[in-house]
Amino acid sequence: MRSRHLEDQKSSGLLGNLCGQSVTAAAHGLPGSAYTGETFWQRETEKLFPDSWVFVGFTHELTNAGDAVPVTVAGKPLLLLRNRDGEINGFHNVCRHRCLKLVDTPGNVGRLLKCPYHAWAYSLNGELRATPYFGGRNSHSAEGFDRAETGLVPVRTAIWHDWIFVNLGGDAQNFDDFIQPLVRNLEALDLNQIKLVGVIDLGIVQANWKALMENFIEPYHVQFVHKETTKQPLRDHYTVIDGPCLGSAVDLSDEDLEQYRAGKTLAVSSRYLTLFPNFVFGRYFPDQIGVHLNTPIGPGQTHQRRAIYTTDGSRPDESQTEALKKLWSDVHREDHEICERLQMGRLSDIAESGGFLSPEWENSVRRFQELVAAAVS
Ligand code: FES
Ligand SMILES: [Fe+2]
Repeated sequence: MRSRHLEDQKSSGLLGNLCGQSVTAAAHGLPGSAYTGETFWQRETEKLFPDSWVFVGFTHELTNAGDAVPVTVAGKPLLLLRNRDGEINGFHNVCRHRCLKLVDTPGNVGRLLKCPYHAWAYSLNGELRATPYFGGRNSHSAEGFDRAETGLVPVRTAIWHDWIFVNLGGDAQNFDDFIQPLVRNLEALDLNQIKLVGVIDLGIVQANWKALMENFIEPYHVQFVHKETTKQPLRDHYTVIDGPCLGSAVDLSDEDLEQYRAGKTLAVSSRYLTLFPNFVFGRYFPDQIGVHLNTPIGPGQTHQRRAIYTTDGSRPDESQTEALKKLWSDVHREDHEICERLQMGRLSDIAESGGFLSPEWENSVRRFQELVAAAVS
């Protein structure tokens, strides 16, 4: 096995090369170990994710006071909790007594969030309200212990429509500035009109989170990997590179809306946009969007869910909804098979050269990799 020191040297050398490459030529990508190695993953968990606004969940999954959803960012257990004022806040999902993970599965905690170990209890705003018998048989407090100072530890959290983001480190840019690059690429789409159609849980993909992101933003693979499920020829695509908003788009003169509505083929003009590091926003004309929640779990594993929305306030009937879910599940399965094979290929030493990136179709991937390289440096 490669030593950490060697792996560090090798990765930083290749990251340096990545940033110095010409934009018009075929370029090398990130080394394979950036997708498979523990060292690179550690750098991401120590720096990239804590410094970013990471997409973690959907507000529609926390509709009532007391609704709680455990999430993971950079391997750390966090908790989303709706309070009695209707606000959703993020906290470290850790009891202040002996640091038990407080909430294990999504659900409603009632009026107080109670730790199952020794029954310490927190308000829905995170204040510590009960510490039974902590000081002894007849005392709930102890000298040198200040309950008021010992609430749940908050995490910087922001809500944008149905989407919840956290910034673990607390120092990322202002959230409104963060989303601007995506907003200006939405071509006047009114997000206040969106209606949730459903969420598909696509399970754990045996691939690095970056492989899934890169796969989404490059159009090169679409006509080959999705030849059964899409009708979006490569020639009609172009890439989108706008600061941290990266992706691709396809404008079709020959759309087939009926096929799409029937869940048979994706044959409509589309926008495949992302916001670094992990927010994925697909727009499918005339009236749908899809948002992927890619949760990085480790160097070789990512949990993926997809939420489907209409953009005109309409709600498809049950059979249309099922057809759409099936189409999207099929498309994702095609992508997952490829990403899992990418992951395997990148275990090879051959992959340390970073392969090649097309200057036309994968310049968006290249920009993504530059952002990754900068974020871990
Ligand atoms: S660890 Fe939570 S009450 Fe003891
Ligand atoms: Fe794809």
